[in-house]
Amino acid sequence: MQDWCAPEHEPIVITSARAATLRDSRGREYLDGNSSIWTNLHGHNHPRINAAIAAQLNAFAHCSFLGLTHPRAIELGTALIGFFPADTLTRVFFSDDGSTAIEAALRMSRQYWQLVGQPERRRFLSFEHAYHGDTLGAASLGGIPLFRQPIAGQNESDTLRLADIAALETLDPATVGTLAAAVIEPLVQGAAGMKLWPPGTLARLRAWCDRHGILLILDEVMTGFGRTGTMFACEQENVLPDFLCLAKGLTGGYLPLAATLTTERIYAAFLGEYHELKTFFYGHSYTANALGCAAALASLALFCDEDTLTRIQILSRNLSTLLQARLAPLPPVGEIRQIGLIAGIDLLADPATKRPFPWQAQTGARVCHAARAHGLLTRPIRDTLVLMPPYCTTDDELARMVEALRLGILETICAR
Ligand SMILES: Cc1ncc(COP(=O)(O)O)c(C=O)c1O
Repeated sequence: MQDWCAPEHEPIVITSARAATLRDSRGREYLDGNSSIWTNLHGHNHPRINAAIAAQLNAFAHCSFLGLTHPRAIELGTALIGFFPADTLTRVFFSDDGSTAIEAALRMSRQYWQLVGQPERRRFLSFEHAYHGDTLGAASLGGIPLFRQPIAGQNESDTLRLADIAALETLDPATVGTLAAAVIEPLVQGAAGMKLWPPGTLARLRAWCDRHGILLILDEVMTGFGRTGTMFACEQENVLPDFLCLAKGLTGGYLPLAATLTTERIYAAFLGEYHELKTFFYGHSYTANALGCAAALASLALFCDEDTLTRIQILSRNLSTLLQARLAPLPPVGEIRQIGLIAGIDLLADPATKRPFPWQAQTGARVCHAARAHGLLTRPIRDTLVLMPPYCTTDDELARMVEALRLGILETICAR
């Protein structure tokens, strides 16, 4: 806040956007290097998504989803379960954003165990460096010290946080018996700095959960909808969860909407007469917002009509070539991690010894600030630079994004 209010700070006021470009109130243009915080898929102002929202707006913008439904929600629910084999993920619960998609999964899994007579299964297993959102329940799973510190003590006894998958085997049966569900960001931990899990991690976690009867919650809030190269990250290890949490890219990055997909087994446990009180008492005012559902349907249609997954493959290969050719040789560049169209580039004071820059120096933030002058907007995670371009990015724009980071690094670090 203090930086923002400083007299010398000039806020960037975004006034329009098209495809991969954002334009500010002074007419300056920037490439959207992090897809507007990992949400945008097909670019801004896409005529097909605009038209879908406009058409829905002409019908109505929003109605309660309590005891009601509407065509776009029905179509979207059907489309989402259509991505998975029959009789696997068959039920959809709508909410508003990534955090609430996770909250819904946490609450459903805990209530499920109460309903089936095993209330002792109430804790959640998560991982160090995980990030699952900022609402109190989702944040209590998180393993990033900086974000945990302000809520220290909150739900601590409800969360079992492990360093890695190998630690599963060290858990004693009494502890395992208290677990309701395990929660993981599949393939890559985003807010941790785009940290890739070792291959096989997801499949091993699924097998472990199956062995111990523990539910598996996959947080695909960041990875869903093509980001890792496949429509959903879990496909790459042939894993199906008990809960799949989707948000961010669900509407193509247009509107806040989330979905928690689950199985018939979970759904069935909540069925009963009113007096049995099996109700899932959870919902939000804007659940299944009709404009959001219309945007999501248009975004999903674009995957077919524009062959988006093929374009993602091509762009990913180009990105990898550019990162290796233009950034890897720079002295402060350490590890470069990439999966699909997610890239994390570590900046280190000494890559040979992996010595980081002092965190107070805000090196990553200063590099991204310098890159603005070269027409790129992105945000670092501490000293990891993030590139996550929209899928509509052209080859030339991709090269310009990487070049802006290169110049930002050279001007901020190498020129000192
Ligand atoms: C993996 C993951 N889960 C959950 C969230 C929370 O999503 P939201 O900010 O929409 O609440 C995020 C946000 O960055 C995320 O990356």
